[in-house]
Amino acid sequence: MDGMIGEYTTPTRDPRPVTIPDIDLTVYPDECDAFGHLNQASFLSLFERARWEMLARGPGMDVFTRAGAWPAVRKTVVDYHAAAFPGDVLRFTQALVHHGRTSFTMRQTARRVKDDTLISTAEFVFVCIDREGRPVAVPPDVGRFMNARPSSSGETLRLTVNGVNLAVEVRGEGPAVLFVHGYPLDRTLWQHQLGALTGFRRIAPDLRGLGLSDAPDLGYSMATYADDLAALLDALHADKVVLCGLSMGGYVALEFARRYRSRLRGLVLMDTVAEADSADGRKGREAAMQVAREKGAGTIAAQMLPKLFAADAATTMPQVVERVRVMMEGAPVKGIVGALSAMRDRTDSLPLLGDLAGLPTLVVVGEQDQLTPPARARTIADGIPGATLSIIPGSGHLPPVEQPLATTRVLAEFLQSLP
Ligand code: MLT
Repeated sequence: MDGMIGEYTTPTRDPRPVTIPDIDLTVYPDECDAFGHLNQASFLSLFERARWEMLARGPGMDVFTRAGAWPAVRKTVVDYHAAAFPGDVLRFTQALVHHGRTSFTMRQTARRVKDDTLISTAEFVFVCIDREGRPVAVPPDVGRFMNARPSSSGETLRLTVNGVNLAVEVRGEGPAVLFVHGYPLDRTLWQHQLGALTGFRRIAPDLRGLGLSDAPDLGYSMATYADDLAALLDALHADKVVLCGLSMGGYVALEFARRYRSRLRGLVLMDTVAEADSADGRKGREAAMQVAREKGAGTIAAQMLPKLFAADAATTMPQVVERVRVMMEGAPVKGIVGALSAMRDRTDSLPLLGDLAGLPTLVVVGEQDQLTPPARARTIADGIPGATLSIIPGSGHLPPVEQPLATTRVLAEFLQSLP
């Protein structure tokens, strides 16, 4: 087993690589509309200026032309969290969130310097092309400067399935394992497991509305998420999988089990519950939807963050907490609202548990999980005949990032035990 969890490649995603300078840009009056708000076109040009300024302070603005590779933008997702006004100085923080062979994705966050208000977050997907428009490699200087290297064993694909374009990371060969993240997170939650669980084909999508996947206005439900996953597996020719879902990903996994049981070789339910929301829980979802719409992802992240981790995480693993905060702040509001409505309306899966007899199931929970505590995990494990429960010491709600080694080891043991 040691061999299986030994290979852990350098992450291709670091939300705040230290070498990348933040860029401060001032909002000018001619960039604002009649009510004095920074307008949409200017937002885009400020994001662009911030990128070039950053390159100017690193490998040079000619880094692409030197290499004969032009970064052609292929997709842009911008979330506007708060208005900006003439004279505001915006600080742009920039990170490379994906570095493939010919493509890369940058995430940019703009905050107002004087009060640290989150103004906007954006992701830009680029493909490097030559003068004839043919894809060419990303210049190595770009990856080096941004402290990233191309994903060698993994690839982030974009696939349109079930009417939505999803980002999905696929790594390795072997029996397929499908990882489903929680709310409002993304596939990078599984970074350690994706790197380490060699001997398996690891598939980690961003659910619709989250991460780099498209965020349609409508169409969010547990059934839709499950149908998206089934269609994704079809597109990847993965007939049968072990499905591993964390928290909301666990709700999706249970819905998948209800609809596509014959496609499952095994199930891992991590830091999740089987019950539907209570009446109070549903009211809480409505309130959170309003917060997301009115105040944006930053406020949702700030409200959730303290509940996600083990008690001492802020001091023992500040980088992990920061990484999760950045992940949540980047979530599109439409996806947040959609996920909240899907969770609010989800079916009670308690009656389903007994029907899962015969499906190898592992229930995992962080010892200090405040959101879905061990007692609730025990209810699931007791309800599925033959299921086992594994409690991860020193972890809160997010074992894959809080205790990655222990979590990967427990998963590896389970995966190896399957017939
Ligand atoms: C999650 O982590 O996915 C959510 O907190 C689950 C929930 O709110 O029910």
